Amino acid sequence: MSSFKDLRIVDNFYQTSSFFPMPTVCISTVNDDGSLNIGSYSLCFPYYIAGKGRYAMLLECRNTSNTCRNLLQRGKCALNFIPDDRKSFKEAVRLGYPGPSDEKMKENRFTMEDGQADPADKDRPQIIAEAFQVFECTWDSALEHADRFSAVDIDDGHPGPYNDFNGITSKYGAHFILKIDKILMKPEYYDAIVNGVTKSSFPPVPVDYGYRDSTNFWYTPFPRFKKPVAEPIPAPKETDISAIRYAANRCDDTVQFTDAALQCFVKVPRPFLKTVLNGCVAWAKENGVALITEEHVKIINDKRRQEKGR
Ligand SMILES: Cc1cc2nc3c(=O)[nH]c(=O)nc-3n(C[C@H](O)[C@H](O)[C@H](O)COP(=O)(O)O)c2cc1C
Repeated sequence: MSSFKDLRIVDNFYQTSSFFPMPTVCISTVNDDGSLNIGSYSLCFPYYIAGKGRYAMLLECRNTSNTCRNLLQRGKCALNFIPDDRKSFKEAVRLGYPGPSDEKMKENRFTMEDGQADPADKDRPQIIAEAFQVFECTWDSALEHADRFSAVDIDDGHPGPYNDFNGITSKYGAHFILKIDKILMKPEYYDAIVNGVTKSSFPPVPVDYGYRDSTNFWYTPFPRFKKPVAEPIPAPKETDISAIRYAANRCDDTVQFTDAALQCFVKVPRPFLKTVLNGCVAWAKENGVALITEEHVKIINDKRRQEKGR
């Protein structure tokens, strides 16, 4: 007997059928007349995080929004991560009310300043000074030929045909893969990341609960914000050396490992073991080595560390 109840999945399931922790990001873009727009967004997550030659975020938004229109037209935006305080969240909810940009922007209560990606570029929006961090981004419109979409075609939604993951993706939906050009960080948090964090050096971040009804957005209220608690990562379980030998023997017939070399991999998590061993074999072949020793593993690790540093 399950300890859960099966909840029907409906449109906007993250808001209607679940409690889904999300960030609160105020996205600044430039309107057709050169003025600034800010819209509030929570469906904004890391998309390309490594191994793609660039870093990117994914934004999911209503295609009739000002933000969507501006991204289709100019492809530039700034993701402003607002801090957890009542005033900022109140303003985020106000800027999240659908409507013409000029009306809501008349009373913008955030302080604006120039970004750093390319301040001379008129298509780059200003950024919110109150934010604890800002990602300046460019839409990767070439992916899935999303550059074929135009804001002109959006009236009451888009008639289609639609893309699957970039550009206009349904009558009212859009997905944007946003290449990160700059991550700007307030000095105190920059110092924390570069010099080492302590539990009081984290910014207070509002967590949007996802669930909403017709009257409220719900988020972690400021007075209850607690300093984050450190939860230690479990120590890696040591893999038995015979299992490592088995995996190593299956990598390549011509390159062998000494027992001492295999011992170096006992703390490598199992899902990564094959990749690590294959990396060693590739290095051995490049360097004409048939028997990998503990010293070779140290050289390979040093090389990896140097490459990572670069
Ligand atoms: C906290 C918060 C989070 C929101 N998240 C999203 C979202 O992820 N995607 C979306 O399409 N709309 C979201 N909205 C609604 C948009 O803010 C709303 O459509 C608004 O009109 C967008 O502004 P714009 O038209 O100036 O882009 C959110 C609103 C709030 C207050």
